[in-house]
Amino acid sequence: MAEAQAQQRGGYAEDVSAGQPAQGGLRFEVDGEIATITLDRPEKRNAMTFATWSALARIGENLPEQVRVVVVKGEGPSFSAGIDLRMFTPEGVPGQGSFSSAAAADAATFEQRLQQAQAGYLWLRRPEIVSIAAVRGHAIGAGFQLALACDLRIVADDVAFCMKEAALGLVPDLTGTKPLVELVGLAKAKDLCLTARVVHADEAARIGLAEKVVAGSDLDQAVADKAEQLLAVNRDAAAATKRLLQGAQGRSLEEQCAAEGAEQAARLKALFG
Ligand code: ACO
Repeated sequence: MAEAQAQQRGGYAEDVSAGQPAQGGLRFEVDGEIATITLDRPEKRNAMTFATWSALARIGENLPEQVRVVVVKGEGPSFSAGIDLRMFTPEGVPGQGSFSSAAAADAATFEQRLQQAQAGYLWLRRPEIVSIAAVRGHAIGAGFQLALACDLRIVADDVAFCMKEAALGLVPDLTGTKPLVELVGLAKAKDLCLTARVVHADEAARIGLAEKVVAGSDLDQAVADKAEQLLAVNRDAAAATKRLLQGAQGRSLEEQCAAEGAEQAARLKALFG
């Protein structure tokens, strides 16, 4: 049964349960209301494969209900060096194919595979949680996009963001283009993606890619402090507020006012009804 479900999700029979050893190059731990996902292939700079994205999606599907904050981090000196470069070779990643096999696939198969990969990123925006990327060192391509999928980015002073896809003949397709434009604006997003240049800590803070820059030795504490602040507010109000904020750009002022009213009515009913 689990095998059959795994096949539907992309063919990787991984069990990413809290506290279990790394699967798909990931570790997953839950401590009360805080879950931590650690990319755990430091010897390959946490390069990611389809199995990684499948494992991420599985964590999202099975996230314990009590979790309110999800921290995404990388083991070792880099957050993630992006997609595993073996995907560019004819042999690909064992059991997961290569870009040549993806290119040969029919449109429906390709679309399904991409949606499965994107599912690993999309759930990090859920209103019920706040996701924090704790980024040290390189966050390249798919790794940069994983940081962008999170609500907040707290970074070490050695951070190096790079949207490298165009340099490799690809486009960013792991949900990163929308948050990038929303965070830094269209012109800066074009600059970063179309030059594939590296963004270091000072610029990341200045253009809005990073909420906070700290010394590498202070990163874990800075993330823990932020999690504590996030957990200090009312859980349901936080989810309702995140829904409002995330919907704001797609609504007119009048629609947003109405949405605020609807959320507040529900809050008042829950608090005093
Ligand atoms: N895929 C597979 N293996 C990788 C990757 C990757 N993306 N990145 C690094 N590795 C491996 C290296 O091959 C090396 O393995 P080895 O020890 O067996 O030789 C090991 O990780 C360490 O890598 P170094 O390059 O020695 O580490 P360093 O700290 O000097 O550099 C850096 C890190 C800058 C991240 C460099 O490894 C790099 O440029 N990697 C490739 C980044 C890339 O182009 N990613 C694709 C982006 S596009 C996308 O994600 C869609």
